[in-house]
Amino acid sequence: MHFELTEDQQMIQAAAREFAQKEIAPIAAELDESGEFPLETIRQAGQLGFMGIEVPETYGGAELDSIGFVLMMEEISAADAAHGTIISVNNSLYNNGILQYGTEEQKQKFLVPVASGDAIAAYGLTEPQSGSDAVNMRTRAVRSADGSHYTINGKKSWITSGPVADFILLFAVTDPDAGARGISAFLLETDQEGFSRGKTEPKLGIRASATCEVELNDYQCPAENLLGNEGEGFKIAMGILDAGRIGIAAQAVGIARAAYEASLDYARDRKAFGTPIGGFQMIQSKIADMKIRIEAARLLTLRAAWNKTRAAAAGLRNTTEASSAKLFASETAMFVTHAAVQIHGGMGYSREMPLERYFRDAKITEIYEGTSEIQRLVIARQETGLR
Ligand code: CAA
Repeated sequence: MHFELTEDQQMIQAAAREFAQKEIAPIAAELDESGEFPLETIRQAGQLGFMGIEVPETYGGAELDSIGFVLMMEEISAADAAHGTIISVNNSLYNNGILQYGTEEQKQKFLVPVASGDAIAAYGLTEPQSGSDAVNMRTRAVRSADGSHYTINGKKSWITSGPVADFILLFAVTDPDAGARGISAFLLETDQEGFSRGKTEPKLGIRASATCEVELNDYQCPAENLLGNEGEGFKIAMGILDAGRIGIAAQAVGIARAAYEASLDYARDRKAFGTPIGGFQMIQSKIADMKIRIEAARLLTLRAAWNKTRAAAAGLRNTTEASSAKLFASETAMFVTHAAVQIHGGMGYSREMPLERYFRDAKITEIYEGTSEIQRLVIARQETGLR
């Protein structure tokens, strides 16, 4: 066992750090304020290969590994978590599914533009009445008598990048009597008739990552855009989330790291009672706890990324590893950003510094791609074999 990064991994980490600190960090506060989708920097990220890190070069990607993906995600998210969300959804919730289940035609049409950064993708699982209980979706896809297409009707909510997405990987019920085995996955083009977007959600954090409801009204989906087989959709959705949760874990580590580094600087500079506050044991205790939690979260995240390829090659799931990383890293991000605001005192609460933004951004990592409660349920089910 060794902890060194390969040359390729070091290269993507350095490239992501440089891009994030030079291009994203300076505009993060402004984007948080305006809630504007950062199309320009997202396009630049695409040109650097960040929108298709694990996708082979033949399909427009950077052809790197899952470790490279989490290293990039940490760097981007340390500058701005909203960019992290957009990039993670493209990479893990979309590209992964098509790479694993897509036909050659689907890869050419739906993967190449997204992996090369020319198009933006979304993932449509959640509905107004089904968040954690994802099987309970109502969006219905009915196959035509000649089998040439599906008519899709329904509503999806909390769709990340929904307001700007060119494509959406959408899950719908094809057999209402079959429960989880009656759900199928479809690749939709958002410029087609029958697809509409609701208002952008006003959010607590990751405000520049646009989120909205989308509605399908007699959307005609050609049968060749079914991803995988009919009835395989829920398995596809969950398998993809096993990858997505690693991206969110890396995002949480990035947010926590940014808050920690700011706190270290502040603790060294800020004086109280004639001495830097970092010399006080109550601040030192916070610094030590922040540091070790971030390191543990990063190691769990890297292990989950490392095991992803290994598990796939062996035909195994990476569920426990991904959920463990996501659970621990998101709770770490909350712990660290909370402590960082406290260390900064009044300045931590001020919008003139990024601490309160880190704190607001961190919260979503405990909610999306499965709440912390769902991660605990998933881990415990895997461990005990009981449900
Ligand atoms: N990989 C492959 N298959 C899986 C799987 C996985 N990780 N997890 C479950 N399955 C399969 C099961 O084996 C089962 O298949 P069989 O019927 O063939 O045995 C089937 O799926 C149903 O599984 P369960 O019986 O466990 O389903 P459940 O309803 O009891 O619970 C759940 C499932 C774990 C609670 C799941 O619904 C879940 O993860 N919920 C959270 C949903 C979520 O994370 N939503 C996030 C939305 S996306 C998002 O947030 C994106 C964004 O904005 C950035």
